[in-house]
Amino acid sequence: MTAVATQGWTQTGAPEAFKARIARELFSHPVIIGNAYTRWFSQGRADAERMKDLILQFSVFSNYFLVIQAKRLVFAQTREGEDAARSILVNELGVGMDPRTGSAEGKAFSARNAHLNWLRDAGAALGLEPMALGRWSAAEPETRAFLQGLEESYASEDACVGAGASFAIENWAAFGIGQGPERESRNFWKQLIAGVEGHNRNFRAPRGLSPVPLAFFKYHFLMESGHSAGVWRELEEDLRAPGFDGEKFIAGGRAALDALEIFWRGLDSRRLRAERAADLSEDGGGAARGHADAPCGGRALRNVGPVDAVAPVRGVF
Ligand SMILES: [Fe+2]
Ligand SMILES: [Fe+2]
Repeated sequence: MTAVATQGWTQTGAPEAFKARIARELFSHPVIIGNAYTRWFSQGRADAERMKDLILQFSVFSNYFLVIQAKRLVFAQTREGEDAARSILVNELGVGMDPRTGSAEGKAFSARNAHLNWLRDAGAALGLEPMALGRWSAAEPETRAFLQGLEESYASEDACVGAGASFAIENWAAFGIGQGPERESRNFWKQLIAGVEGHNRNFRAPRGLSPVPLAFFKYHFLMESGHSAGVWRELEEDLRAPGFDGEKFIAGGRAALDALEIFWRGLDSRRLRAERAADLSEDGGGAARGHADAPCGGRALRNVGPVDAVAPVRGVF
């Protein structure tokens, strides 16, 4: 919980029992406290194929999240909820955001700062065609299942379900931030940053290749505590609103986290399959070089060659 949120709880006297339920039923979810894929990825052992898989699938999430977030905005029932959803949406599209408050009020817009464009910079370094990123046709079955799960929870017409889903997703993304080095190191953004840095060190530097840009990952890590503050504020407002349904809120949060877990399990099962194929190859199988089921296979992704690390991003805060 952020400092802002803690203060908010104290001020509003939000029910302790509901806080305890959130901790028990949402914050203990395996995708928050035990994500096998991001733990593996943080070790820096992802080769170019695994990096492409992550970036391509994440780009589909990032792009379709715009639609899901727009629905969240449209279906919001409180002013706080609507404002928080609007700020998150425009920030995704390239408007700056105050990392402390999660508000985009008065900030500058640049298409260059659309989050998908930063991901395209990372993908281009690995040879992914920028406009191939974010396409539904590029989504693996688990990524589609994840987005459909978000559609039913995060983008629900029932504002209580949507609020619970948004609350759970933002608190997953902000897990551990500001809570000491050990806990923070288990934040999924922190794990992705460590993994991309490790990939650059282990797979690119020895070959004289420019590093995969980290702007997308580092920016999100910086912003998440603001997003989390926004959803805690929204919950405070919800709790005061007549008709707030705590059951639906928890169910929405749970459904969103379950869907999210499918996405990461998909990435993990593909990397395990690739590892098995590599082991077979080393055993003399020969033919298993690379990945027969490589995620980018057959999608005609043009190799555009490495690009320079993304220029410092201006006007995003
Ligand atoms: Fe984003
Ligand atoms: Fe977020």
